Amino acid sequence: MVAHGLYGLPPRELVDTASDAVQVSPLIPGSEALDMLPDQSLDSFTVLAPPGTVERRYVLAQGLRALKVGGTMTALAPKAKGGSRLAKELKAFGLDVTEDARRHHRICEVVRTPALDLSDALTAGAPRLSSELGLWTQPGVFSWDRIDPGTALLLRRLTPQSGAGADFGCGLGLLAHGVLRSPNVGRLTLIDIDRRAIACARRNVVDPRADLVWADVRLGVPALSDLDFVVMNPPFHDGGAEDRALGATFIAQAAKVLRHGGKLWMVANRHLPYERPLADSFGAKVKLLAEEGGYKLYEARR
Ligand SMILES: C[S@@+](CC[C@H](N)C(=O)[O-])C[C@H]1O[C@@H](n2cnc3c(N)ncnc32)[C@H](O)[C@@H]1O
Repeated sequence: MVAHGLYGLPPRELVDTASDAVQVSPLIPGSEALDMLPDQSLDSFTVLAPPGTVERRYVLAQGLRALKVGGTMTALAPKAKGGSRLAKELKAFGLDVTEDARRHHRICEVVRTPALDLSDALTAGAPRLSSELGLWTQPGVFSWDRIDPGTALLLRRLTPQSGAGADFGCGLGLLAHGVLRSPNVGRLTLIDIDRRAIACARRNVVDPRADLVWADVRLGVPALSDLDFVVMNPPFHDGGAEDRALGATFIAQAAKVLRHGGKLWMVANRHLPYERPLADSFGAKVKLLAEEGGYKLYEARR
């Protein structure tokens, strides 16, 4: 039974977390699922609240749902990334809030009371079938309510693939849909660091050739080798900050799992300098296939 919940990795100098706290962030593979914790089961909950409003209110509401009456929740966030709204959001649930400001963060503490008004936040942030996308989605997942223009570009230009491949950072599974249209694809491994994305993709990509993995691509995917193709629209944010190394690592990992002659299809924002990492891993066999609407589409051959 989990007694102390921890969501994310709050700076140690700002909050103390119980040494036996159990991680429940969907962005840390292997962690427990916050929304599966029984009602009123936690003694304490510490949360580095996410920046998106709907996602943040959902996480706060889920934490409070799972907290025992009399249990303590500590919620913090950088002031410019939702921190300045935390106290107001917690008060709107019906709580008394103690607020502190340190190192550009707002840190709120509340004691869980019996009657809270959580239902709107729990509904607004829950997984749902989007009629516009025709897909299962959830606030907080990448591009959860619209198709990313980079993804759309890759889908428009993708030629039918064959053999075994991978979709690195699969999100809701849009690229996988495009790939699996080809009957010559025998197997496709979809990988994402976000448990919510994998849960949605599992419902969106119902195909016996698809295999879904909740994992961090940076750590390598030992089960993959000799692939015929990799598709990806790599992330360039880690913990809310732009991180160009992330895309470069995705490129290096793609090169590792491809067979000689295997192909990487990659789309990225035009401003991201991926030519160098592509050349480092694929030498001269890199082609710019399209440059449209602020995105670049590359094909690189191993
Ligand atoms: C730009 S989105 C693309 C999503 C999807 N392929 C699409 O085109 O809509 C990048 C995806 O990579 C995932 N991601 C970020 N860091 C990751 C990592 N280290 N390992 C695996 N996936 C990661 C994100 O959760 C996100 O779903």
